[in-house]
Parts: sequence; structure tokens; C-alpha cells
Amino acid sequence: MRGKFITIEGTEGVGKTTNIQFIQNWLDAKGLAYLCTREPGGTPLAEQIRELLLARRDELVCDTAELLLMFAGRAQHLHQVIEPTLGEGAWVLCDRFTDATYAYQGAGRGMRQDLIAELELIVQGSLRPDLTLILDIPVEIGLKRASERSAPDRFEQEKSEFFQRVRQGYQDIAKNDPERCVIIDASKPLVDVQREISIALEAFWFSSEESG
Ligand code: TMP
Repeated sequence: MRGKFITIEGTEGVGKTTNIQFIQNWLDAKGLAYLCTREPGGTPLAEQIRELLLARRDELVCDTAELLLMFAGRAQHLHQVIEPTLGEGAWVLCDRFTDATYAYQGAGRGMRQDLIAELELIVQGSLRPDLTLILDIPVEIGLKRASERSAPDRFEQEKSEFFQRVRQGYQDIAKNDPERCVIIDASKPLVDVQREISIALEAFWFSSEESG
């Protein structure tokens, strides 16, 4: 049986890293074989593309180049890692996936949704995540947290209005796909955030067991 594909999303500083660790502990406790990976990245080539995408540079990166680089890395990651892992029956936990493209390149940069959908189809065929956890936090709180962590990368340099659009983009994705997406209020204390994540994971586990 194919493994399940779980993705975790959110704007900068929402606490993805801490909560990914929590999800890994949950997968361990269930005794599931899984792989934890990330986008952009996840293979040597895709990690190089990540470096190209995140590096601050004098040259302005045009929106189309950014979009295509995201999907180029994704194509490689899917081919080399995600598809084979799911095919072997292991689960995949991915830090960001195509919802980030709809949120950042679509809502954030203003790239056309139908264009992104076309690339999604070319690169992924019918593959979509089975469960997506979207950590949600007011933009200012997230940006403050992210700035305390490290020097801003090319995305983190963006103005708060950009991230407001990205946050709205994620909320729209969740609204349009409530079966797959769960919004988690990440501004609450960590124990409460992790309780919400547990509830979402258990509900997903229960429904995937039911459907066999
Ligand atoms: P990370 O810092 O969460 O690892 O993600 C790197 C940055 O890449 C983050 O600012 C969001 C951005 N990103 C996109 O703009 N589009 C995408 O499709 C993905 C996967 C990430």
C-alpha cells in the first residue's frame, strides 16, 4: 500500500521546525516508516536550486524565473525521493510543497493561479498531499521570530504586506480544500498548538485506517 503524504505550511516564523519534530515523534510512536524532507530542496540538485532561490542578490529575480525554479526543484524531488518513497509504502513528511507556490508566487507575487495549476499538472500529474497542516500566525509576530533566528534570506527581506497576502493565500487554500487542509493557530502556547496538531493527525490516521 502506498504511504501517505503529509505537508506542513505557513508564513515565516510560524514554528514549522519545532512542530515537524513533534510530527516525527507521532510517526515514530505509530511505528510508521517515513521520510522527512523539505522544499525547496530534498535532493542534491534541488538543494542547489534552493540556494539559488534563497540567496540575496543585486539582480532582481523575475517572478517567472522564481516560479520555474520552484517547480524544477519539485520535479527532481518528486522523481528522486517523494514518489519512490510513497511507492515503497513509507510516509513522506514534507516541510512545504506546492501550496507554498500558490501562497508565495501566486498570492504573494501575483502570478496567475491557472499558470501555477498548469505547472502543477505537468510536474505532479495527479499527486497531491493527503494531509496539509497550515500553521497560522499574525505576520508581525512571525517576522519578529524569524528575524531573531537568522539574517533574512531573499524571501524574508520582503515587506510585511507581501506576507499578509501569503497568509491570506494559505487561508484561501484551506477554505477551498477543507478535506485536506487543517489550519492550526500557531500563536497559542506550544502545548496547545501541539494538541491541535495531534487531533488533526489522529483524525487523519483514523480516516486512513477506515478507508483501508
Ligand atoms: P523555508 O525557509 O520555510 O525552508 O522556505 C524557504 C522559502 O521559500 C520560504 O520563504 C518560502 C519560499 N517558497 C516559495 O516561495 N515557494 C515555494 O513553492 C516553496 C516550497 C517555498
